[in-house]
Amino acid sequence: MKTRKLKDLIASEIGIGCMGFSHGYGQIPTENYSIEAIKKAYNFGCTFFDTAEAYGPNLLPENFGHNEKIVGKAIKDFRKKIILATKLHIPTEEAKADGEIYKTLRRHLENSLERLQTDYVDLYYLHRINPEVPVEEVADGMARLIKDGLIRGYGLSQVPVKIIEKAQAIAPLSAIQNIYSIVERGVEDEVIPYCLKNNIALVAFSPIASGFLSGKVTVNTEFEKVDDVRKFVPQLTKENITANQPILDVINRFAKLKNATPAQISLAWMLHKYENVIPIPGSKNQERILENLGACNVELTAEEFNELETALKACKIHGHRGFDESEGKSFLQVKHK
Ligand SMILES: NC(=O)c1ccc[n+]([C@@H]2O[C@H](COP(=O)([O-])OP(=O)(O)OC[C@H]3O[C@@H](n4cnc5c(N)ncnc54)[C@H](OP(=O)(O)O)[C@@H]3O)[C@@H](O)[C@H]2O)c1
Repeated sequence: MKTRKLKDLIASEIGIGCMGFSHGYGQIPTENYSIEAIKKAYNFGCTFFDTAEAYGPNLLPENFGHNEKIVGKAIKDFRKKIILATKLHIPTEEAKADGEIYKTLRRHLENSLERLQTDYVDLYYLHRINPEVPVEEVADGMARLIKDGLIRGYGLSQVPVKIIEKAQAIAPLSAIQNIYSIVERGVEDEVIPYCLKNNIALVAFSPIASGFLSGKVTVNTEFEKVDDVRKFVPQLTKENITANQPILDVINRFAKLKNATPAQISLAWMLHKYENVIPIPGSKNQERILENLGACNVELTAEEFNELETALKACKIHGHRGFDESEGKSFLQVKHK
């Protein structure tokens, strides 16, 4: 698979988000199945794996690190050949008790390293900004972790340019991980242009719009009773799924034209649009993971891209993914080890 840069890190142009093996999209698979899925992704050519300390069933404190442990077991044999990314949250009380953000970062990182069975992570993100913790101090702490040899680069997640600028002024960022898809384009206004100018990768989370852009989520889809964020995603109400159908019609037309799937067209679209964007689609299903990675074989010509983009822009987007409602607040409430 072709590669892209995250400052000085080099990863496959499509990564995989591992969250669904532990949280967010209903019943989780067995550990063996998840490990096998990650290995299959690597064998396909994927060298970019995304996890987080918080990813565990229902985000409960006792399930903390569930996902990192799975990823750690899966990547053991090819650890040095991949870009491994994980994330932390900084609860206010911990930051206050530590008195120095570096200490908080280092403790969280050391716990992650143990679960991931490794002695460094390639990319360490702050998962969400805590308004009570200055991002400059986080950037400074991350720079120290780089000097310590414990991380190779750092990033921030779900942040606007005014925050990115503050961190970048202290220590250069490798990546920003924000929500980005055909139906969630907020980053196109300021964040992606800033990142392009400053040699920062934009890692796109929820690039299939939580399944909507695959065409497999319909008004008849019943979301699962257990740990399924799709119940809270405003874009996935029956009304919005119906109202956004014209977008899927456009994508389906191009899927037929390119002999690809709608999910692949959605990923090929962002790969074509920006050279610094790296999508990390998530799936707990081995076939779909390989299908998504297969988007690397779907190349849109300039003419095809322009036609697709014009048709998409003619469609109104109804609703949004709603990360604040489904994750942002609950993450800050999670108790950290
Ligand atoms: N930084 C953050 O705050 C943040 C927030 C959310 C996610 N993330 C990261 O980003 C990754 C991806 O985001 P995401 O999982 O929310 O959204 P996503 O990749 O847009 O969508 C995942 C959903 O789409 C379905 N899906 C994926 N590919 C499919 C395909 N080819 N055909 C049919 N259905 C498909 C999955 O179902 P199945 O599992 O049933 O296949 C799952 O329900 C996560 O794994 C996580 O690592 C980060």
